[in-house]
Amino acid sequence: MKDCIIAPSVLSANFSNMAAAAADINASGAQWVHLDVMDGKFVPNLTFGPKMAQDLRPLSPLIFDVHLMVYEPEALIGEFARAGADYITFHTEAAVHSHRLLQSIHSLGKKAGISIVPSTPVSLIEELLPFVDLVLVMTVNPGFGGQTIIPECLEKVKKLKMLREKGNWPFLLSVDGGINETTASRAREAGVDVMVAGAAFFNAPDKSALVRRLKGHEA
Ligand code: DX5
Ligand code: ZN
Repeated sequence: MKDCIIAPSVLSANFSNMAAAAADINASGAQWVHLDVMDGKFVPNLTFGPKMAQDLRPLSPLIFDVHLMVYEPEALIGEFARAGADYITFHTEAAVHSHRLLQSIHSLGKKAGISIVPSTPVSLIEELLPFVDLVLVMTVNPGFGGQTIIPECLEKVKKLKMLREKGNWPFLLSVDGGINETTASRAREAGVDVMVAGAAFFNAPDKSALVRRLKGHEA
């Protein structure tokens, strides 16, 4: 089986020292940096805008995985593209014209992702699957780090994997929320390609060991 990509989320980093967070991620063996953008409306929390990605960009050679938890995501994609995002993922629940937005992200030369919250069924994004590079399945209700996984959401990963095989589409499957050393094996079994980890990563005293364990390797 192919190794999972690990995407530490800076949401759980110390916001007064993001350079240290980037250095920790770079040194850990993780391949992506996950940037959680929250507007205080789509989710009950606020984080940061494109300037964070722009300021972190020179500090990391890794893939920047921007997760927009905002209403009207179309207003932000240009700025995040210019700030150095590689993947830009938005919530279908927050967008009226998801397909158009996927096209816009591609026209900016970026990979486009679609995300669903725990209460949203896979069927809501089925028509979009030929057009996406990433499907991000939320395994907690978005808004905060350090929550407990809702394991039922992993069934959606299995469903998406089947649809992907049937359609022969190339998108990656990502899970976000409550991923740690204990829950990672269930996510791997469900067939994920990318695992986001916030609290588990930033609370781990040995981050390289944690990354190896999330991938299912011996620490
Ligand atoms: C939650 C965010 C996640 C968050 C995950 O709304 O989308 O990316 O950082 O945090 P953990 O891994 O702590 O559940
Ligand atoms: Zn996220």
